[in-house]
Amino acid sequence: MSETMTATKPKSRVASKANEGALGGLSLNEIHHGNFIELVKALPDRSVDLIIADPPYNASKGGAWSMQHGKLPGFGGDWKKIAEIWDDMPLDDYLAFTLTWLAEAQRVLKSTGSMWVHGTYHNAGISNIAMQILGVEIINEIVWYKRNSFPNLSGRRLTASHETIIWAHRGGKREYRFNYEHSKDGDFSHDNLKSAGKQMRTVWDIPNNKAKEELAHGKHPAQKPERVSRRLIQLSAAPNDICLVPFAGAGTECVAAKREGLRFIGFETEKEYLDIARNRLEDS
Ligand SMILES: C[S@@+](CC[C@H](N)C(=O)[O-])C[C@H]1O[C@@H](n2cnc3c(N)ncnc32)[C@H](O)[C@@H]1O
Repeated sequence: MSETMTATKPKSRVASKANEGALGGLSLNEIHHGNFIELVKALPDRSVDLIIADPPYNASKGGAWSMQHGKLPGFGGDWKKIAEIWDDMPLDDYLAFTLTWLAEAQRVLKSTGSMWVHGTYHNAGISNIAMQILGVEIINEIVWYKRNSFPNLSGRRLTASHETIIWAHRGGKREYRFNYEHSKDGDFSHDNLKSAGKQMRTVWDIPNNKAKEELAHGKHPAQKPERVSRRLIQLSAAPNDICLVPFAGAGTECVAAKREGLRFIGFETEKEYLDIARNRLEDS
């Protein structure tokens, strides 16, 4: 498998018939409309191979900052005010939310599986603490360096130019899959921080810009570039594995799973994003 810099046109290696199916009564290769925390209850214990979670970062704090430019003045870097109810919870609620969805993620993940959880300083510490409370073992913390970050307009902070991705397994005996050879010898030539043939480090240089196809059906305010998820999959999954995407947004992680020959099951509360995601999946 090689990491791609642009979203490639229909190259899914999913043989649609062979991979149709359901998990706990919910169809695979579909994004389900609704709250992950409620719908996930239908999924059996230890039934998924991989989880890629891009939860709300809880960065849309109330306060006086203006929505005029869609940015967070004084919050550093290019953090966008998502201005959605799902991204603005009191701290206690956010911790409870994180503990709840992570407990479900831990429950449904196989012992051979991995979970990857996106974050920034707004929420990554909370995910970390929640994992420790639940006994989810952190394997690595990735620093995703975004070389093309938006400059800090106020000049009162450093330019925020990274996010973190926590790699973890469900806890207990370490049986998680790691495609070590690929991590060392795969093609990561666009990544200025990866030396060919050398062990992959925990700082990844992946530009945040999206290919045209990734935006063709509309934008999501917190949309990730597909190539990040494709790297996560390539490092920790096998063909035909089931990838759970609790917070599907515009469908990036589901599209990546499909393109990498995995099955997937996603969840999304907002119809507007669900429509974008479903259209993207049709094209991929
Ligand atoms: C950070 S965004 C994910 C963006 C996605 N990675 C992409 O590239 O499009 C988080 C998404 O989770 C959704 N969401 C929030 N709470 C949810 C819940 N309890 N269950 C399912 N989806 C939820 C939001 O509507 C939002 O679209």
